[in-house]
Amino acid sequence: MKNKPLLVGPGVHWVGVLNSKLRIFDIIMRTERGTTYNGYLVQGSQKTALIDAVKHGFSTEMFERIEQIVPLDSIDYIVANHLEPDHSGSLPEALQRMPKARMVVSKNAKVFLHELLNQDVDPLTVGTGDELDLGGKTLQFITAPFLHWPDTMLTYLPENKILFSCDFFGSHFSHPGMFDDQVDDFSHARKYYFDHIFRPFKEYVQKGLEAVAPLKIQVIAPSHGPILRTRPERYIEQYREWSQVPAAIPEGSLLIFCVSAYGLTGQLAQAVAEGALTTGVRTALYDLVGTEITNVLDTVEAADGLALGSCTINGDAVKPVWDLLSSLATLKLKGKWGAAFGSYGWSGEAVPMIEERLKSLKLRLAAPGLRVKFTPRPEDLAAARDLGRILGEKIKGALPADGKK
Ligand code: FEO
Repeated sequence: MKNKPLLVGPGVHWVGVLNSKLRIFDIIMRTERGTTYNGYLVQGSQKTALIDAVKHGFSTEMFERIEQIVPLDSIDYIVANHLEPDHSGSLPEALQRMPKARMVVSKNAKVFLHELLNQDVDPLTVGTGDELDLGGKTLQFITAPFLHWPDTMLTYLPENKILFSCDFFGSHFSHPGMFDDQVDDFSHARKYYFDHIFRPFKEYVQKGLEAVAPLKIQVIAPSHGPILRTRPERYIEQYREWSQVPAAIPEGSLLIFCVSAYGLTGQLAQAVAEGALTTGVRTALYDLVGTEITNVLDTVEAADGLALGSCTINGDAVKPVWDLLSSLATLKLKGKWGAAFGSYGWSGEAVPMIEERLKSLKLRLAAPGLRVKFTPRPEDLAAARDLGRILGEKIKGALPADGKK
């Protein structure tokens, strides 16, 4: 039969929806294998709860799955662990079709629930330590802010040792097998998901891991991707590893990235590196053409300074530079030192554009950007070496933050 619910454990069914055709999630995430919106139905002897729902446009399939287990109008609670529209888009319709159901949300979610749904709802608000007794099934709530929205909470079902983890431990990966032992390898999807959703919130990931550490977990039931029932502790351990903050390099470190159409910006990059090396900071120079950006993000996060060089083409910095800059939004960069440089032919907009972006990423500019018309002369290369030296000295704390000696 089409659209069957899946048994996750006694009295617990997956009633979510596969969206295998999705190729981009939230505008920026590639989803080559689509995604799933996972909802779960938990039946106690007295009450029934739906935990998490699906995106707008996918509710019919979720309702079909639920109706093979219980009538929609018999559902007592809709637990919304998180209100981002990929989970809450179906709620207005769900509330209509489940007239008895009371919403259960975190205190932070209650603040914007009305605006999100555009209707009056009187939810039960819960937090860590609160429980809901369904009759032989207990829903225990764990407030988990910034995993990854302020409203996020997790729900634990001790009788089945299931953690309904919301986006935590999720992945964008669609496969009808739905369980980690019934699908293809999806390790890449898990890491990609972590990097895009949780990387900016590593300290909250660590807090979330602490919060779930005392729980006996046999199944992790996330709101996206396969259900994790095969040694779930290994997924928890992966999150522990991925949420480590890269160790700072004792002598300080500077990364220089450049793109050079004819080698002229490359000459400046080399000179910046020479200048930085005189200060004793660890310095690495990357040509962005051929650099796999995802491979250097941890290094960027661990570095103390970032110098970006770009030639100017059509009044703009070149695409590999923007690709790097747009990938930095999920990193913690506040307070790191930055600088821009580049050779240009006519207008030279790339350098100020890079500087603006570095400032918006909360880097401190170590010195005014270095713009050189066409081929660098000896004095231009000296200026580039000076830029590298200033960056190095700022990183080492040898120069005050205002740049004055
Ligand atoms: Fe899957 Fe944050 O929503």
